Amino acid sequence: MRIPFVAGNWKMNTTVTEAERLVIEMLEKLDRVEGVEKVLCPPFVSLVAINMMLHGSSVKLGAQNMYFETKGAYTGEISPLMLRELCEFVILGHSERRWYFGDIDEIVNKKVKAALANKLNPILCVGERLEENEAGKTEEVINRQVTAALNGIEPAALSRSSDEVAKDLIIAYEPVWAIGTGKAASGEQAAATIQFIRDVVAKIWNETIAQDLRILYGGSVTSANIAEFISHPEIDGALVGGASLKAEEFVGIVEQTAEIKKRIK
Ligand code: PGA
Repeated sequence: MRIPFVAGNWKMNTTVTEAERLVIEMLEKLDRVEGVEKVLCPPFVSLVAINMMLHGSSVKLGAQNMYFETKGAYTGEISPLMLRELCEFVILGHSERRWYFGDIDEIVNKKVKAALANKLNPILCVGERLEENEAGKTEEVINRQVTAALNGIEPAALSRSSDEVAKDLIIAYEPVWAIGTGKAASGEQAAATIQFIRDVVAKIWNETIAQDLRILYGGSVTSANIAEFISHPEIDGALVGGASLKAEEFVGIVEQTAEIKKRIK
């Protein structure tokens, strides 16, 4: 049974004060929603404050990126060792990291390995660009990104039964042309690519792991279109950008996810 999962990626938005205010606005309502794993991913500087605010609630915390070394002379970087004291999840390979900051496949692979080695659960993002989509290369690109990101990782690295903090992997399918554009993929398109990702994972590891793995859709998800995605059994949840910065919107997305998944179970 895959537990539905919704994460809010706040990107480079909110000061610490604004982040605290946003958490106050949504925490009580989010906390009440059962049957969905709920994760907030604020900027690094707000992690400490929000970690304290989430204490005793069912809402979890994630970071938006990290470096792959645990410590040393890497000015300006944040390590898995620092993050694991504060949060359980870390978004890796987001397209904005890939295209603006040079996080190529090999770097994403190192980061996924480092996250798992440090008991952080990666939310690995993959997705094709518009020109790749139009050239019919979606599967080729996704296959390359998933295969490269998981290269050299043994299934044993994902032991959710471990006594310590769980080590899990989430994949988010985020077509680049749908991110922040208001032009979401259709439910069918997203479900088909997510099924393809599951097949790729089954080939790399095995069918059991592939069936257990939660795969999300991301790209212009709102409370008005979440139902279209979540009604597909293949789609386990959403990675939400813009709409996660509005308390009412994000709570609406999480509540609908809980209701719909319960109904189609
Ligand atoms: P968006 O971003 O919801 O604003 O399109 C999604 C993401 O980049 O994770």
